[in-house]
Amino acid sequence: LKIFTANANPMLAQEISEYLGVPLGDAKVKRFSDGEISVANDESVRGADVFVVQPTCAPVNENLMELLIMIDGLRRASARRITAVTPYYGYARQERKARARDPISAKLVANLLVAAGVRRLMTMDFHANAIQGFFDIPVDHLPGVPILAEYYSNLGLDNLVVVSPDIGGVTRARGLADRLGADIAIIDKRRPAPNVSEVMNIIGNVDGKNVIMTDDIIDTAGTIASGAAALMERGAKRIYACCTHPVLSGPAIERIETSDITELVVTNTIPLPEEKQIPKIKTLSVA
Ligand code: R5P
Repeated sequence: LKIFTANANPMLAQEISEYLGVPLGDAKVKRFSDGEISVANDESVRGADVFVVQPTCAPVNENLMELLIMIDGLRRASARRITAVTPYYGYARQERKARARDPISAKLVANLLVAAGVRRLMTMDFHANAIQGFFDIPVDHLPGVPILAEYYSNLGLDNLVVVSPDIGGVTRARGLADRLGADIAIIDKRRPAPNVSEVMNIIGNVDGKNVIMTDDIIDTAGTIASGAAALMERGAKRIYACCTHPVLSGPAIERIETSDITELVVTNTIPLPEEKQIPKIKTLSVA
């Protein structure tokens, strides 16, 4: 078994390597002067079961291309099987034609990975479960809920309700609620434009309760910030929020800081640069 990493999340790769007691493979991913990617691998992989840890988070195109080029090299070096460990799968939110002439970018990425030589994919909380079917190879689709549930169990919050910030997240919220013995409530969210979210209604009782809002991705934090404000209006006592993938782009950090959210718990599928490590955000490891 061999583990390699490119540049997307070397700290997660290092943690996984320490957990397994398998040192990281000696491959370096660099740039030529014009920006092209170069991979130099000084380690034989002939006949090896190879895992490449590389979430395709921002800068998504760079990280995806690093992954593809590294895999191409491993395939040509006679690795027996190559698994892409891509805990965050970029482009997952473009998984269907929402309007005429839309591309299905999540499927294109699946095609590229398999064409490069991936023979197994390990990932977490795809935005849409159906993306598993874009692959004709084994896909290990792992949920973040057990890690998040363990954290909240230890926190010992009482009078708890788990809130899904949109209809699409109800199954995930129910999974967390079941583990915590809590009820669920659902926010009826509308998206008038990409990255803009509006709360229409709240289904369920949050009055006087400790609330945990849970989502797969927090990107601009519009969904959780507007959700938190609506929950406070409905009498929620304290609001906690969690997600598997902290994309946290654009105004996200400012929105989280000024929101009604007491604490945001995220995982390290995507690394948080220093400027995003604010006191309100706590990171759990998925290693
Ligand atoms: C959308 O359906 C996802 O589950 C998340 O709710 C969404 O990506 C969050 O985006 P933002 O933080 O920009 O509102």
